[in-house]
Amino acid sequence: MVPLKRRKLSDTGMCGSNSSAGTEPTRFPQVVLFLLERKMGASRRAFLSQLARRKGFQVEQMFSGNVTHVVCENVSGDDGRLWLGSQGGGRPSPHLLDVSWFTESMRAGRPVEVLDRHQLQERPSGEPELEEFSVASYACQRRTSLENHNSSLTDALSLLAENAELNDEEGRGVAFRRAAALLKALPSAVLGVSQLRGLPCLGEHSLRVIKEILETGTSSEVESTRASERFKALKALTGIFGVGAKTADRWIREGIHDLQQLRASGQVLNRAQRAGLQHYADINQPVTRAEADAIQAVVEKAVSSVLRGAQIVLAGGFRRGKLSGHDVDFLITHPEEGREVGLMPKVVSWLEAQGFLLYQKTTRNSYLESIDGPGRPPSNMDRFERCFSIFKLPVAAESSQRAWRAVRLDLVVSPISQFAFALLGWTGSKLFERELRRWAGHERGMSLSSHALYDNKQGVYLRAASEEEIFTHLGLEFIPPSERNA
Ligand code: UTP
Ligand code: MN
Repeated sequence: MVPLKRRKLSDTGMCGSNSSAGTEPTRFPQVVLFLLERKMGASRRAFLSQLARRKGFQVEQMFSGNVTHVVCENVSGDDGRLWLGSQGGGRPSPHLLDVSWFTESMRAGRPVEVLDRHQLQERPSGEPELEEFSVASYACQRRTSLENHNSSLTDALSLLAENAELNDEEGRGVAFRRAAALLKALPSAVLGVSQLRGLPCLGEHSLRVIKEILETGTSSEVESTRASERFKALKALTGIFGVGAKTADRWIREGIHDLQQLRASGQVLNRAQRAGLQHYADINQPVTRAEADAIQAVVEKAVSSVLRGAQIVLAGGFRRGKLSGHDVDFLITHPEEGREVGLMPKVVSWLEAQGFLLYQKTTRNSYLESIDGPGRPPSNMDRFERCFSIFKLPVAAESSQRAWRAVRLDLVVSPISQFAFALLGWTGSKLFERELRRWAGHERGMSLSSHALYDNKQGVYLRAASEEEIFTHLGLEFIPPSERNA
């Protein structure tokens, strides 16, 4: 008999954070899945496990005799059986299956019958002939879902991109981001660099990193960056809301590498940074979809209380289907042009009066088409009325000792005439947005911002009431939000 306390703990461990993402009760008691992490990678395994649990499958975190179906990816029959043997087998022996059985079952919404083609295949002897991938150049021409077959490669390239960005090397940062985005769009795992011949956006540096990881399992540059004092300090300090790479760099040069040293240094902090430091742990804990929904309910109430008919839309990563994010982004508008004027201060006052804001800073709308014209402002900051805030989210009493937690919340108000552009611009991903603007400029002679689309040759603004119309103006196939995860 397992003591009650332990049982409880392992129960919550089973569902983990995805309980909030709506885990269904087990629908297929005769099927117990185990996903083999080897070759699949930890993040893809976590993604697939969550997917299966949402569809009502039981997925075990650890292998045991209860497991009926072992799901593998890029593992040969020999390797699979070797691994199973090392686990002491399991009685009766579970199915050793390729991920194709899993994908078909997810699609069917039930465990499909195990066929020959689902069994792990033997690798043909000798060097396998690897097929070359082919992909469109711009990320906005491609479909990039959250399912990433190359997460160990893209994690590595993203870390190098992040390091470049933290060191104010934007060009290098973009190059690594483009390379990572390309690999995210591939239909299967890369097995050898020969498959990448002829792909766009893969610079010599990125290729070198990919090759080393494919051959040895890790990249020395990535590992030394990850371990470097400077990278760790930049990460820790920019993890404070209100602290950018420049400030972090200055502090590091003054000998400040972590929060403790910052607190002891007597540095003068601005209001945002003081709030950021105070709520550091909360803000650096990912926001779940359930938390975003809870905040949406409050903001919806605020918005409709201060202006009848005003509407809000969840944008950012959550609109792309992500299950967690670093903040929550909402767009606010009203179907009658002009009614949205002055809305933000009222919404903010309502939230403040109810005690929902731990910090807020509102910037007013500074975009005027007649004055500003089509050019977009430096960087991709747009000029909507915008509120950066830290939201005080009440926490369900039984799930925590605390009554609330802090969550980063961004609010943006857009006039309805610009709403489609605002929605497209605020849905991301950041690289997808960057690529849309690059495509517009280089391929179409147009300027795209979160406010408008301007045709430079004809000298006219192109109006749009939906995202679909903007893609049409740009001569691009429509890519839905869930496939903009470049
Ligand atoms: P986020 O930084 O919130 O990214 O910006 P995200 O994709 O939602 O990621 P997580 O899940 O929070 O970690 C959301 C979108 O808003 C745009 C960004 O380009 C991105 O597409 N954005 C952000 C702007 O247009 N302007 C800004 O000043 C900030
Ligand atoms: Mn976001």
